Amino acid sequence: MNNKRIALLGLGTIGQVVFDKLVASTNGAWQLAWVVVKHPERHQTVLLPTGAQLTTDWRRAVEDPTVDVVIELISGIGVAKEAVTSALLHGKQVITANKDLVATAGTELDRLAELYGGALTYEAAVAGGIPIIRTINEGLAPDRIRRVSGILNGTSNYILTAIDQEGLSFDAALKEAQAKDFAEANPTKDVTGIDHLSPRLFAAAKEWGLKIKLLASTWESRGQLNYQVAPVALNPSHPLYQVDGVTNAVVIDSEVPRPTSAPGRAVRRRPTAS
Ligand SMILES: NC(=O)c1ccc[n+]([C@@H]2O[C@H](COP(=O)([O-])OP(=O)(O)OC[C@H]3O[C@@H](n4cnc5c(N)ncnc54)[C@H](OP(=O)(O)O)[C@@H]3O)[C@@H](O)[C@H]2O)c1
Repeated sequence: MNNKRIALLGLGTIGQVVFDKLVASTNGAWQLAWVVVKHPERHQTVLLPTGAQLTTDWRRAVEDPTVDVVIELISGIGVAKEAVTSALLHGKQVITANKDLVATAGTELDRLAELYGGALTYEAAVAGGIPIIRTINEGLAPDRIRRVSGILNGTSNYILTAIDQEGLSFDAALKEAQAKDFAEANPTKDVTGIDHLSPRLFAAAKEWGLKIKLLASTWESRGQLNYQVAPVALNPSHPLYQVDGVTNAVVIDSEVPRPTSAPGRAVRRRPTAS
């Protein structure tokens, strides 16, 4: 069995679950070599497996020549980007759940992976754990895909559902989401796109039997790739109409008709960690 040595960057909400999974894994495919944290005093009770070391210096872990795989669960752009860049320059395989990083630097990091013979995978950063990137890249590789649409943000979908079904105001729905840990203390990045919608719009949609959803879509037309993220009023026949709460879902419209809708729970640490 090819035993991969892993550097785990971050032992927070997601990192802790990944750590537990790696430690519990008995298939011999992985070996935890490093765990990187910022505040070691918070992790004094962590029981490291034999051979693994805890450090605050990501360079020691990432640049260790015996490490094959770097799992980045630090979050943010600064240190996370530096560490991922360094790992890719060293030809390592990188796994990240960092949406911010992928959205702002994904293309440049993908290029580094290609140039230096490593790999950058970010399934965990997209659609709350639905294995959609692999499905598109591998399962649907021979198909011509016309359009991909998805509800990719569980926080905003939770808020939109609460407004629609409980009649809450935007502020009250956001507070409810925060109380349930579905929204961060600073929710700006999750709610941009729905925070300006007027109560009258929601009332009108309800009257017409429509639901407002924040839809991410990409489609090809005349050889050009188009994409948008925008609030859209869906009618009941739309496959994403029933997708409520923190659930994410993706619909793929391809030349070959087949079941192409994949729902998954988002804003949850276990699917992301998995
Ligand atoms: N939470 C979710 O439900 C969720 C869902 C999907 C994707 N994600 C993504 O997953 C990633 C991790 O999120 P999270 O919620 O697990 O974050 P988190 O709870 O804030 O944990 C961050 C971890 O990174 C460590 N860290 C931060 N800065 C560091 C530095 N400069 N050097 C070394 N270690 C550092 C922290 O160390 P200390 O513990 O010592 O402070 C902590 O263990 C993010 O990119 C996030 O967007 C999260």
